[in-house]
Amino acid sequence: MKVAILGAGGMGEAVIGHLKQSPHVKSQVAFDVSDERIRKVRENHGVPGTTRLEDILSDREVKLVFVTAANHAHKELAIRSLEAGKAVMTEKPMANTLDDARAMVETAERLGAFFQVGFELRYSKLYTKIKEWVDAGLLGQVVSTHCLYCTSCYARDQWRNRKQEGGDTFGERLSHYVDLTRWWVGAPVAEVFSACPPIVVPYMEVRDNYHTTYRFANGAVSHITFYLNYGATFRGDPLADSITDLQLGDGHKLRYIVVGTKGAAETDVFYRRIKRWQFTDKPERMESDWVEKLTWTSKEDHFYYHNTTDQTLDIVRRVANGLPPMTPARDAYETMRLCFAAEQSAEIGRSVSL
Ligand SMILES: NC(=O)c1ccc[n+]([C@@H]2O[C@H](COP(=O)([O-])OP(=O)(O)OC[C@H]3O[C@@H](n4cnc5c(N)ncnc54)[C@H](O)[C@@H]3O)[C@@H](O)[C@H]2O)c1
Repeated sequence: MKVAILGAGGMGEAVIGHLKQSPHVKSQVAFDVSDERIRKVRENHGVPGTTRLEDILSDREVKLVFVTAANHAHKELAIRSLEAGKAVMTEKPMANTLDDARAMVETAERLGAFFQVGFELRYSKLYTKIKEWVDAGLLGQVVSTHCLYCTSCYARDQWRNRKQEGGDTFGERLSHYVDLTRWWVGAPVAEVFSACPPIVVPYMEVRDNYHTTYRFANGAVSHITFYLNYGATFRGDPLADSITDLQLGDGHKLRYIVVGTKGAAETDVFYRRIKRWQFTDKPERMESDWVEKLTWTSKEDHFYYHNTTDQTLDIVRRVANGLPPMTPARDAYETMRLCFAAEQSAEIGRSVSL
């Protein structure tokens, strides 16, 4: 099939590379509002491009599009593509407002179209391992999770700093982690409370620090702590697929603790490890034993962390075989709803019921 990339920046170029590995992809075409980006894609990948969206929408050979443009463009690109009869993958966050995200899902549902959102951590070897342990009952019922994420801020001129283009930080930076938490806990959220300290990065138009707590309907509680300034300044992309040893101990942290009624797990991206504990109710006391530890090499970082390769290949395979998305669009919408609720709570200074 022919596949189109809508938004030929960093993520668009990554997807172009992944698509070259798919036996289902015969050709690719790129769309971007920037001539410069189209020129780069031709030079770097030999993929032709256009600055006219209509060229893509009217091309009947294009069956699938990947929306990899800046966040503010997702809604229009996704809806117009769905209406033109294309299967659609949209990068996270779905959109910069909940109304826009809902309009996207409703369009896909009305048309019965394929629509998957880019929560590729559900393909990550690191986080699917936790899901395997949860599904196998090794942790019991997940009752508590804590995500600690410390990174460095963007350069001053980045669209991500600007509300109109990037939307709020929760959607742009934390939607992955809300999605993972929902996936592991497996229950609806009843309430969210965000307490956000004053903005630290002087040129951010949106919040850059969060202490957010979700209370699930089954009693589980999840907390996300996020600092967009504590990690030492990266010279490259803070979310680069290859996590270098230089990042160890320099303030960057991305760690999860997941506690269940029968055991617990911990993941650490920068130390490249995942551990599992088992609880045993002995006559004298409950014992906790560390029973499993997995690690990986720097060459495997991409597959253990932001596994966009397998996500892209899986989406193409699904569309080629007439299969539904890995996760229904409604489910991704639910993650977005929780992100917007966290922002709303920070805005009003009290908890939000869902
Ligand atoms: N899943 C992940 O972990 C992950 C990682 C990085 C980026 N992303 C997402 O991918 C998307 C792109 O991010 P990026 O890092 O490639 O940013 P980028 O700045 O490198 O590229 C953005 C591109 O969008 C183009 N663009 C802007 N407005 C457009 C429009 N109206 N129509 C078409 N193109 C338009 C820009 O010209 C640019 O080429 C964002 O939504 C981002 O959140 C996801």
